[in-house]
Amino acid sequence: MTGTPPELKPTRELAEQLGGVLRGARYNTGGLMVALGGEITTSKLKAPVQDRRLGDEHLAQLARLFLLGVPVETETARRALVPADLDELTEAGLLHQEGGTVKGAIRVTPYAGLLLAHDSDSAEHLHSDIVTGVNQAAKTLASLTPREEVSTALDIGTGNGLQALLAAVHVDHVVATDVNVRALGFTELSATLSGLTNIEVRAGSLYEPVQGERFDLVVCNPPYVISPDTRFVYRDGGMRGDDMTKLVLTQMPEHLNEGGLAQMLGNWVHAEHEQWSAPAKRWLEGSGCDVLLLHHASVDPLNYAETWIKAAAATEPKDFPEALDRWTDHFAELGIERVASGAVTLRRRSAATNWAAELEMPRAPVAAAGDHVLRLLDAQDLLRDGGDEVLARQVFAPLAGHRIERVSVYSDEGYGEEASQLIPQGDAGMEVGVDDLALALMRRLDGERTLTEVEAGLASEIGAEPGTLLEAVLAAARSLYERGLMLRISDPGPPDDEPAT
Ligand SMILES: C[S@@+](CC[C@H](N)C(=O)[O-])C[C@H]1O[C@@H](n2cnc3c(N)ncnc32)[C@H](O)[C@@H]1O
Repeated sequence: MTGTPPELKPTRELAEQLGGVLRGARYNTGGLMVALGGEITTSKLKAPVQDRRLGDEHLAQLARLFLLGVPVETETARRALVPADLDELTEAGLLHQEGGTVKGAIRVTPYAGLLLAHDSDSAEHLHSDIVTGVNQAAKTLASLTPREEVSTALDIGTGNGLQALLAAVHVDHVVATDVNVRALGFTELSATLSGLTNIEVRAGSLYEPVQGERFDLVVCNPPYVISPDTRFVYRDGGMRGDDMTKLVLTQMPEHLNEGGLAQMLGNWVHAEHEQWSAPAKRWLEGSGCDVLLLHHASVDPLNYAETWIKAAAATEPKDFPEALDRWTDHFAELGIERVASGAVTLRRRSAATNWAAELEMPRAPVAAAGDHVLRLLDAQDLLRDGGDEVLARQVFAPLAGHRIERVSVYSDEGYGEEASQLIPQGDAGMEVGVDDLALALMRRLDGERTLTEVEAGLASEIGAEPGTLLEAVLAAARSLYERGLMLRISDPGPPDDEPAT
């Protein structure tokens, strides 16, 4: 591990030139996948393989510099970077020249149409203020964030700027904060490389840089890992137990505009026989926000330590047992029995009676799942305010692009249906089994008829009176709706003969 990380000091003009070079050469997910034969990976062992797979074209040289970090002959690199000047880029800390070759001093990862600048994760760059690339947690938060067009957003602990940049596409003005000033340099560089001009960076811890300010959207992927270490700023919040998650969460409501949404990831401690959601619910009581908790998993201290020690990729195998002991001793000292990981959505509705709901999210979300999160909020609002009567008069449509996966097992009696799952396109990582009635209901939703009318149709198909199946249909509909698997079109209101309350 070296003590001195590269200092980034490109002028805006130089960063714009580099952005133009990268975008012009199709340095994006599609272009790089073609150049690399299908797989974009930056792992250390893969880089030499990928290097040999690349040709000599313009994009290949840029990929060597900024994706793989392998050396490129100086004059070749100079030509590939024009109009950006190789020596200026070196001086600005973006390249490293040695002998007759040049290497990228930073990495640039394409993601969702953006270019994200960050440190390399190779051993010599594992300094405490390393700014990491696009990892699974970052992708999870990015997927779950609702993407409504609003005026202001805040990204706490912005790192390479991923969440801030994604927000900048649908929000007028984004404030990105980090305690690590190197992260702010990377965020500014990422924004310029991606051609975005509506991101303001501010240095400081958590909400310090935005005291007294409120936003329409707040996102945060905090350094939530519970650990005895203070080795990496991005990972170890330096607080006791789950205080980092608690602090971020409990201060969020006061930075949200009325109706504003916040999305964060976190880890929190719970007792072995306690419901995983209980601590987070306690923290947010009386917050003026509706709370949606999505649970990924709860694990014991040994599993937790293993996951995070390995994830840092900084522990030699010979040091691993010692690190495990250090971490698990620390957890024992704090009396930690289980650690939950998950996502929390807040929506500020201070005049309302707020609700708190919990759902399981065993898988990582797929693609853009922000709409799924919005449907989960809509369902809680409606189902908590009204009972079956209100549900029965709603109009629903199936989700565009959803799929149904069915598992059938063969026996002497032929194929027996074992399980069916309904999976939306862009889902929040839920595995939702559906039974035959739910499938029958889904097939008949048309975005025009109320559930009462759909049930009447279903009943008549089997020669029964309307209403015969209503209880079962409403139970199936409730289960699909509260998991965000049907789209509510409208609420036609109470029937004419029923006075509105
Ligand atoms: C897990 S990384 C997330 C980075 C990025 N937002 C993402 O989603 O990939 C956590 C970030 O929080 C920053 N951080 C750590 N402690 C902080 C604090 N007290 N206040 C603000 N940011 C902090 C780290 O520097 C790091 O950039």
